Amino acid sequence: MTSVTESTWTVPTPAQLGTELAAIDLPALVGRHGTPLLVLDPARIAEQYRALRRALPDVRPYYAVKALSHRAALAAVRDEGGFFDVASPREVALVTELGVAPDRCIYTHPVKKPADVAAAVRSGIRTFVFDNEAELDKFAGLEHDVELLLRLQYRTPQALIDLSYKYGARPDEALDLLRTAQQKGLRVTGLSFHPGSQLASAEPLLQDIQHAAMLIDCLADVGVDLDVLDIGGGLPVPYDAAVPHLDSFVSAIAEEIRPLTRRGIQVISEPGRFVAAPAMLAVAGVVGVTRRGGMPWYYLDDGLYGSFSNVLSDHVHPTVYAYDAGLEERETLPSVLAGPTCDSTDVITTSAMLPAMEVGDLVVAPFMGAYTSVTACEFNGLPKATVVVV
Ligand SMILES: Cc1ncc(COP(=O)(O)O)c(C=O)c1O
Repeated sequence: MTSVTESTWTVPTPAQLGTELAAIDLPALVGRHGTPLLVLDPARIAEQYRALRRALPDVRPYYAVKALSHRAALAAVRDEGGFFDVASPREVALVTELGVAPDRCIYTHPVKKPADVAAAVRSGIRTFVFDNEAELDKFAGLEHDVELLLRLQYRTPQALIDLSYKYGARPDEALDLLRTAQQKGLRVTGLSFHPGSQLASAEPLLQDIQHAAMLIDCLADVGVDLDVLDIGGGLPVPYDAAVPHLDSFVSAIAEEIRPLTRRGIQVISEPGRFVAAPAMLAVAGVVGVTRRGGMPWYYLDDGLYGSFSNVLSDHVHPTVYAYDAGLEERETLPSVLAGPTCDSTDVITTSAMLPAMEVGDLVVAPFMGAYTSVTACEFNGLPKATVVVV
């Protein structure tokens, strides 16, 4: 699916997807487990994580567990000697139960329950993120070797998901917050930000890195020395349109980061989507067929409250293909794909290009690893898709 010689990463054609699917016996998996399914390939997780490390050797990637917290996915990162970004006690437990040392984890939730902070410190985690003064008090009296990163607000309206709406201190608040932390006897070692998820280009990330580097300089001028910069996540995958290839992102970013690394600033990142999305394929069954408003409607056994929760929470539009033996090109028509719940919200898309299908047919959607199974619920009493590891 990925070609390193291209500067863009394109949506797979049916033929390309067919080649990938040939490696897994999908009819046999469906025969054994039924639908809906999420087919997880941990080797792909490892491949994506390795690709990031190769592309940005000076940046340590902490895999954002929130994107896909399946044990096999976490084990794949662990087996790469990887690092983890956790955001809750449950995520701490998931990685530490796999034998991951706590010093390989950072706890990046900017606003935490006091009890959760204390428990994470007890479990051995030492690096935490904060973005406001009230948060600092939660660290009072805890281990003296705790290190804090100040999360900054860098709005990214052009990102599909602007992650600075809810969190992040304004850069002009940084000095006061750092001084307050000092007065409370706490050690702030760096800055962090998230440039927005599923970025269309590297531009916002570049600007954020430049701004953060400038801020580190300004703070050094007034005697506040920082030596960590966390550049968050944001790398995109091609759901329904080509995205810049990792190499394109990296060439510009690497240049910005090199001088920081030379000055002894440790640069880290928190990739979620880029690592997890390519590793899982959604498989759903057609359970109903009709025509409404002159269009074919296909009702699936998975939808917005299930694996396709990424459409609602993440605003992405996965490409859905009809599955047949070879996924060869067939005449396609604009079609509606509806999920299985009784409400009218549960419509995945009104513009899928699909061939005529019947009850019992299957559809498949690639890039369904991130923010899918983790955000699914059981509305209408419908079980979540079974995750099958291949
Ligand atoms: C704090 C934090 N770090 C990392 C990530 C992962 O970002 P992405 O999936 O864009 O790589 C997220 C996503 O919500 C996040 O909130």
